[in-house]
Amino acid sequence: MSVHIGASKGDIAESVLLPGDPLRAKFIAETFLDAPRQYNEIRNMFGYTGTYRGVPVSVQGTGMGMPSIGIYSWELMTQYDVQNLVRVGTAGSIRADIPLREVVLASGACTDSAYVNNFLPDGHYAPIASWELLRKSAEAADRMGLKVHVGNVFSTDVFYHTDSYYYEKWAAMGCMVTEMEAAALYMNAACNHRNALAMLTVSDSLVTGEATTAEERQNTFLDMMKLALETVTA
Ligand code: HPA
Repeated sequence: MSVHIGASKGDIAESVLLPGDPLRAKFIAETFLDAPRQYNEIRNMFGYTGTYRGVPVSVQGTGMGMPSIGIYSWELMTQYDVQNLVRVGTAGSIRADIPLREVVLASGACTDSAYVNNFLPDGHYAPIASWELLRKSAEAADRMGLKVHVGNVFSTDVFYHTDSYYYEKWAAMGCMVTEMEAAALYMNAACNHRNALAMLTVSDSLVTGEATTAEERQNTFLDMMKLALETVTA
């Protein structure tokens, strides 16, 4: 048992999907996995293990923000020997050419977070996705006929920025969306020599102010969840 995950070694699969919302972890396990078994309920941050196409897969809620995903993903890597970690989350578009409901694969994650100081206080580390997972997920998206945008994202510590245009410079440097977890996941994976990827459904737009309805979110998330499961079992 680790501090925040109440599972025994062996309860968690080599590949784990990471939604922010623990109820979404429950939904993914109950909808897509065969014989799902819950292994964690500490802080209601639910975790499940089952199989997909016969391959063991786990789903673990992470909570919101880099400190929270930093804790759960670190314990998965260091206490449970998890090798492949795929965040399945939502993000806000910061560019007019990145529309609502589409899926973004974060090949890199820029950040304003001090989380990076834990590893390299003197520079600006470039957190990147696992090439292996990125390639597999782009190939799976092609097989599924699912359009994806691949590139940089911006992982921020602040949801309610007081400067409403804070994102414009990140967008000008090519970041497509803003979210709050990918960079910490990528840094933990780099430090522990593991494979990580963040896939994100665009749930709202900071450019136009539009947001998806709960029903739309549910449907586009289904595509992304399937993509994540196809990626880790390919
Ligand atoms: N900002 C940060 N994180 C997010 C957003 C956003 O607009 N939408 C979904 N996750």
